Amino acid sequence: MTADPIEIRALRPDEAQKLVACVRRCYGDSYIDPAQYDGERIAQAIAEGRRHALVALSPSGEVVGHMGITLRRQGDRTADAGMTLVDPRYRGRGIAHELGAALGRAAQALELVGAHDYPVTVHGATQRVGADHLITTGLLLDNMPADVSFQEMEPASRSRSASLIRYLPLSRAPERTSMPPPRYEAVIRWLCARAELPRRFAAPEAHPTAAVTSRIEIGEDTRRDILRIAVVKGGSNLAADITARLRKLGGAPAAIHIDLPLADPAAAAAAEACWSLGFFFGGLLPEFRDGDVLRLQRLAAPPSPDCVPVLESEAGRALCRFVLRDAATRRDPAPSRGPAPDPTR
Ligand SMILES: CC(C)(COP(=O)(O)OP(=O)(O)OC[C@H]1O[C@@H](n2cnc3c(N)ncnc32)[C@H](O)[C@@H]1OP(=O)(O)O)[C@@H](O)C(=O)NCCC(=O)NCCS
Repeated sequence: MTADPIEIRALRPDEAQKLVACVRRCYGDSYIDPAQYDGERIAQAIAEGRRHALVALSPSGEVVGHMGITLRRQGDRTADAGMTLVDPRYRGRGIAHELGAALGRAAQALELVGAHDYPVTVHGATQRVGADHLITTGLLLDNMPADVSFQEMEPASRSRSASLIRYLPLSRAPERTSMPPPRYEAVIRWLCARAELPRRFAAPEAHPTAAVTSRIEIGEDTRRDILRIAVVKGGSNLAADITARLRKLGGAPAAIHIDLPLADPAAAAAAEACWSLGFFFGGLLPEFRDGDVLRLQRLAAPPSPDCVPVLESEAGRALCRFVLRDAATRRDPAPSRGPAPDPTR
């Protein structure tokens, strides 16, 4: 271990290749996002203000650590945070903690309402960073392929593993009406309370869906082997539309995620239709689009026994029990199993 003084600051576009070199030292060629090997693309995203990269620099100017904020769409109230890495030569001296603090300040300067991050569960290190401020709101099973090499870290699993969803509240979120499906109302209420989101809960029937065609975006993450379906606007045909699209799918990705907007009265019926097609609870993403999003997930294969190797917090373990029970109920929907356990108790 070296005791060189480290500078923490924002990366400039012309330094993007230094970040790529650090990604290689941390992951070889195995990193989960191929775009992080493309210096030009990183430089452009920084120059356009879509990405804010906080880096740790050694005295010789090498990038030896990184944490970033990526704005998903112009004008969004929240952003994705993370992509945490520290050069193996510089680990264990608090650099990730320092980057986390710098990231919090940068996110506040951007006037974000909050940020989401998705720490791995193959080890507990990133779950410990910001643990006092971040709220665990979801667990995505089989989210991380087995071939990602966490250089110099002994992974606690050799199969696909889960990632957490966490929410960092930065300022008071706007007041909203949430119409969760009854099946998940208790867990969503619990998560909203933990994240201090000012929400009014209403039954979807009280806000009937206008007879419009729903709008759905579909994206594929080939590196992860995950299909992502995002409902942008729910119409009266939403449940039927999602069902038809899933039936048409060729091949079976390792996982499918469906994002449903909880402010949309069509979401509850769509969630129920998805549940009957094998989807189960993934998480709550506060202020992810035009309000909170319920993410459901479906796996191609039953999760392996060590699919969630390390969980650092009690809230994470409670949510994990809920998700695994919901997943098991989907595989074996015997009525005797009853509903998934209430994580709030
Ligand atoms: C995870 C990583 C960023 C940590 O960087 P770091 O600068 O060494 O971390 P810090 O010294 O700031 O320590 C952060 C916390 O993680 C813990 N930690 C560090 N290494 C750890 C390990 N190998 N296993 C478990 N916990 C670990 C520390 O004890 C500390 O927690 P504490 O404050 O409660 O004691 C670094 O090991 C890394 O880049 N790993 C490979 C890439 C990776 O896994 N990225 C995260 C993907 S979500």
